Parts: sequence; C-alpha cells; structure tokens
Amino acid sequence: MRVPSGQTIAARASKRAVARGGGGDRERLLALAEGRRDMVRLGRGDPDLPTPPHIIEAAKRALDSGATHYTHWQGQPDLREAIAEKCRRDYRVQVTVDQVIVTAGAQEAMYVVFQALLDAGDEVLLADRHYTSYSRAIRLAGGVPVFVPTREANDFVIDPQDVEALISPRTKLLVVVSPENPTGAVIPADTIAALGRIAHEHDLMVIADDIYEKFVYEGPPHTSIAAEPALGDRTIMINGFSKTYAMTGWRVGYMAVPRELVGPMQVIKHTLTICAPAVSQAAALAALEGPQDCVDDMRRVYAERRQILLSGFEPLGMGAVGRAALSTSTRGFPDTESPRTTFASGCWSRPTSSSFRARRSARERATCASRCCSPPR
Ligand SMILES: Cc1ncc(COP(=O)(O)O)c(C=O)c1O
Repeated sequence: MRVPSGQTIAARASKRAVARGGGGDRERLLALAEGRRDMVRLGRGDPDLPTPPHIIEAAKRALDSGATHYTHWQGQPDLREAIAEKCRRDYRVQVTVDQVIVTAGAQEAMYVVFQALLDAGDEVLLADRHYTSYSRAIRLAGGVPVFVPTREANDFVIDPQDVEALISPRTKLLVVVSPENPTGAVIPADTIAALGRIAHEHDLMVIADDIYEKFVYEGPPHTSIAAEPALGDRTIMINGFSKTYAMTGWRVGYMAVPRELVGPMQVIKHTLTICAPAVSQAAALAALEGPQDCVDDMRRVYAERRQILLSGFEPLGMGAVGRAALSTSTRGFPDTESPRTTFASGCWSRPTSSSFRARRSARERATCASRCCSPPR
C-alpha cells in the first residue's frame, strides 16, 4: 500500500508545467475583460469573419465521402503537394511533397520543431516582442529563448547587428516571424538578406513563420527569409490557414522541413496528434486550390478597420507602428517611461457592444455580404 505523501494535488503538477503554466498579466487582463459587453478584444489573431463558403462546402463533401479517419501522419498527399506548390510559387523554395508535414495548426508545428531540434540549454534567438507560444515552446523543449531587442524607432524590426551580438556557441536557431505578432513589424528585404547571411555564416537553422503574409497594409510587399538563397536547406517554413482563410477553429497548419528532419519529427508529431484532422485537411486543400479573392476581400475589411482604429488613436497621442497588424505606442502618456506596444491585431475579434458594431461601415457589410462571407454579426 502506498503511504500518503500529504502532498496537495496542486503540488503534484510537474515543475516544468508549473513553471510554464498559465497566469501572468495577460491572463489576468483577459479574465477582467471576460463577459464585459463594452470591451472589444483586439489582441487575439482570431478573425471574426467566417471561413469562406466554398471551403466549408468542401469540408461537408469530404465528411460525406468518409474523411473521418486518420490520414498519413504527414497529411494527405494531395494537400501536401498543394502546399509544396505554394512554397515554390510564393517563395521560389524547391519544396517537395516528402518535406511537407501538415499539422494541427502552425502551433503544433512550432512545438514539434523545438522538440525535434533542441537539447537542454540550446539557445534560440527571437524578437523580444513575439508571439508568446514561441518562448513557451522553446522552454518546454529545454531550450533557452534569447531575446533580440526591438525598438519603436525601428518599427519593431529586429536589427541584424543585435542578432549577431547575441549569438553564442549554444545558439542553434533563429526565429524570423514576419509580419510579426504582436507588433505588426514587417521585416524589409535588405534586413531579411542580412539575417540570412548571418544565419549562414554562424551555421544556424532558421524558422520562417509567414502566417500573416497576406496582411501587409502599407509599404513594400512581405519577403520571407525562406526565400534567401544563402540559407539553402537550413530553413523550416511554418505557415497555416488560420489567418489567411479565417480558419482558426479548423486546426490545420503546416511546415516544410529539410528532409533529414522528417524522421526525427515523426515520433513527436505522431505522439501529439497522429495527424491533422482529416476533414480540416480537405478544407485546407479547397482553400489553396479555390478562388483567392476571398483573401483580398478579407484584407480590405481589415484594412478599413485598421484605418478606423488609427483615426481614433492618433488624436490620443498613440502613434501607429508596424505595417501589418496595427500596433500602437503609449508614447506621450505621462505614466509610461518607455514606449510600449499596447496591442496589435489585423483582425479584431467578436465585437460585442452595439455602439461598436454600429461603427462598422456600410462598405464592410456590403463586401462581406456579397463576396466572402455572411454579414458581420
Ligand atoms: C506568429 C504566429 N504563428 C503561429 C500561430 C499559430 O497559428 P495556428 O492557428 O495555425 O495554430 C500564431 C497564432 O496567433 C501566430 O501569431
């Protein structure tokens, strides 16, 4: 018989889980906002626009024809081919079907990559203002996130000199997310090229997360570090369907990885989810192969909302930075010592107040009704 240890249930959680567990300012703020009808949640990249109807129809057809089983752990071959084709078309990266792994959202890709690449104490360079799941996934894999400072004066774009200065013998990976969440920073082509050179010279692997690639509102188009010729096969491309096609709830994303890493990733990916949901894979294929004007329509809606926000914040002295999502700075507010981003979102989520809803323009309603989706609620 086991002797009772007297430990509380809470004390039985692993040190790793407790150290990385929920809580913190973000969670406290979200809890405060929960249920309030006069607040609009702007920080979460969950589009309130619905998934375009042709994607939903494809999923229904797939269910009717039996897409209710496991698939190959890497995903259905036709979807993987469509993803490889997209990588070749958009970024001129010679990806083949065997290098593509379809995941349960880009989120799972991120977790699998760090589990597959990091040993305890390995360092990963990433922007100080980053999508928090990156640093969590690094730590969960035993790695050490090393934060590259970003500055408002530079639109929160990471500076290659800072990156180089932080490289140590333990540095294994550089994470390049562009457009970045939460700052909306879009890394210019010459900076991307410099980062590529540094990664090559210091023999670093690179993660290119381009999940917000379709949502750049001003300035030159987005460039992916995956397209840097100097990097050859040292890049892992992470992307997904959540943002581009308003498919957050379908949980489907992907990565394109060097062939040598497919084997090491198999056991991790398979242990996590076996495969991405079969029905969501069918929906993702329809998204890639179907008409793309729904993406343009959504971008127009977000651009218009961004403009409304800008015109509201500027008189308050909250300047806009970032070219993708909207980030504002509290610069000019008496009680802040340094500029800080307050939030960012290319797409805001589920407005609840009627006065807010009323501000949505007639043009937005018309676009949504006639093209990509049903009218906003
Ligand atoms: C930069 C970045 N990468 C990946 C993800 C995860 O996306 P998914 O819904 O495909 O898991 C997010 C989600 O917000 C994100 O901001």
